[in-house]
Amino acid sequence: MDEFLPKMKNLLSLLCIIISALFLPYVTYGQYEVSKSASGQHGMVVSPHPLATKVGLEILKGGGNAYDAGIAIEFALAVCFPVAGNIGGGGFGLYRTSAGEVLSLDYRERAPSQASTKMYLDAKGQVMDSLSRLGALAVGVPGTVKGMEQLHRKLGKLPWATLLQPAINLASDGFALTVIDSDLMFNHAQKFKQVNAWPTPFVKQQGRRWRMGDTLKQPMLAKTLRTIQENGSAGFYEGWVAASIVTEMKRHNGLISTEDLKSYKAIWRDPIKFDYQAPTDTTYRIYSMAPPSSGGIILNQVLGMLNHIPKSDWLANKDNHLWRIQQLVETERLAYADRSEYLGDPDFFQIPVRQLLDKSYLKSRFAHAHVGPAINSLKVGPGLGNHKMVRQPNAGSQPKEHDETTHYTVVDGQGNALCTTTTLNGAFGSKLVVEGSGILLNNEMDDFSANPGSPNSYGLIGGVANAIEPRKRMLSSMSPTIITRLVPSPKGSTEMLAFTVGTPGGSTIPTSVLQVILGLTVDGLSPAEAVAKPRYHHQWFPDQILSEYNSIIPERATELGKLGYTIKLIEKIGRVEAIKVSEGGLLIGGADPRGDDSAAGY
Ligand code: DON
Repeated sequence: MDEFLPKMKNLLSLLCIIISALFLPYVTYGQYEVSKSASGQHGMVVSPHPLATKVGLEILKGGGNAYDAGIAIEFALAVCFPVAGNIGGGGFGLYRTSAGEVLSLDYRERAPSQASTKMYLDAKGQVMDSLSRLGALAVGVPGTVKGMEQLHRKLGKLPWATLLQPAINLASDGFALTVIDSDLMFNHAQKFKQVNAWPTPFVKQQGRRWRMGDTLKQPMLAKTLRTIQENGSAGFYEGWVAASIVTEMKRHNGLISTEDLKSYKAIWRDPIKFDYQAPTDTTYRIYSMAPPSSGGIILNQVLGMLNHIPKSDWLANKDNHLWRIQQLVETERLAYADRSEYLGDPDFFQIPVRQLLDKSYLKSRFAHAHVGPAINSLKVGPGLGNHKMVRQPNAGSQPKEHDETTHYTVVDGQGNALCTTTTLNGAFGSKLVVEGSGILLNNEMDDFSANPGSPNSYGLIGGVANAIEPRKRMLSSMSPTIITRLVPSPKGSTEMLAFTVGTPGGSTIPTSVLQVILGLTVDGLSPAEAVAKPRYHHQWFPDQILSEYNSIIPERATELGKLGYTIKLIEKIGRVEAIKVSEGGLLIGGADPRGDDSAAGY
């Protein structure tokens, strides 16, 4: 009963938020009015926090482009959304210019040069996962500030200093907490105290709990942001800020060195690009993140497999939820099996991208719509053969509920689009806050396969491709995605910007993005409807469908149970943000009702 009541309370509040988001133009969160849907001709911003959305909109209105707004949002989130926004973490950005060029930036953390394959194993070879999740050893070399500088150099328009100023103001003046902010900080207070040797700003003094409306000030972080404002990325990776990080590492036996910070590089990569022919007869071109994220490859594989199901089957089963669930679950099972074996950092492991995305491979992997008994994950393996990973007996452990990571997206009036997912990994990352510079550090090292075949905190298992090596990037699931519509033209076809989509959610990220893509392209939902729609997920192991409470209704669950599927209920999956560009050029934003996410346009 003790466990049941809070769960029911959470479920009821989630249902209220979803219902109000669909029927009311905005919801009031303390002193913030949060719109879940917005439209405009000149600019659109969707982000996980009302203050960050406001910052982005003001930059656009002040003459900045989508990339300027994105940089200002990224720094603002590091202050007003400390659970996931960061300068001590990393992320991936996808950008489409008004001229139609699509670029992607990898500013993922990487392992320190002192990291080693067995660093989280005890004498018996068992993973000591607390070390990869909490405290100094869990921290990867942060990439965010280098990433923002690279983005600004290539695509920014306003001065760098202008883009840092809103975050500096938020850190020095403070900002009012929402209910979600205050609950999250209160719930993690013990861990902050356990990890840090000094009273961090995130723990309220005298054991009191944070309340909605309380002001959070971060003067040390403000000083750090001013240094970055003056010196660019050197203000983070060199000088007193870098020294403060290295000192914190030494104090707690962490591994990041001065040289690790100085040598970090963000990398421009070619996005994964593929065409998806929706059963509505429109062809979309989908761009998403390439390795070291698995996102683009999973999306390409799943949609590539679904594309082999005849259109007549889709149309005949339009309202058949059981049929749709089976198609998604069975294709996801196959894609995640491939992920486990073949994906990792492409600079360290040769990823068979061409074979994994080959149309005939995808056709043979999932030849027909799946109806009938559930496939058993034990009978499914990575599909290209030649696999080396041995699944450990504990593989299949339960992914935990995660409220972290963050996604934001901006489209400006010129048609420039930005779609970014950024993270500290777990809530407040490693919980380690650097004394002097106020930087919260990530726990991204947990995304490596600490012991090939054993699960990480998302229950994901990985192989040698994602084993720890010095300076290697850990495999991610983050999937910022930009979609264009192919319009027939005398030259063949022209691409028109259609949607941006992305979300947090660890291993559930690609499947949440997938469901929103289907909502937007196949079901004709608005962005607000598509992101609000309840979701489900399968990742090969554990062999179960993870489902939001209101996603797979009891009647359907009974049918699935008879077919041999196991369903595990979870409160929330992801917090998706999406923008649609209508054929007439109207920008329509949809913000997820599962959090403080908000959309604003003009
Ligand atoms: O890179 C990844 O896939 C994870 N570190 C993302 C973490 C995440 O989304 C947590 N959020 N809910």
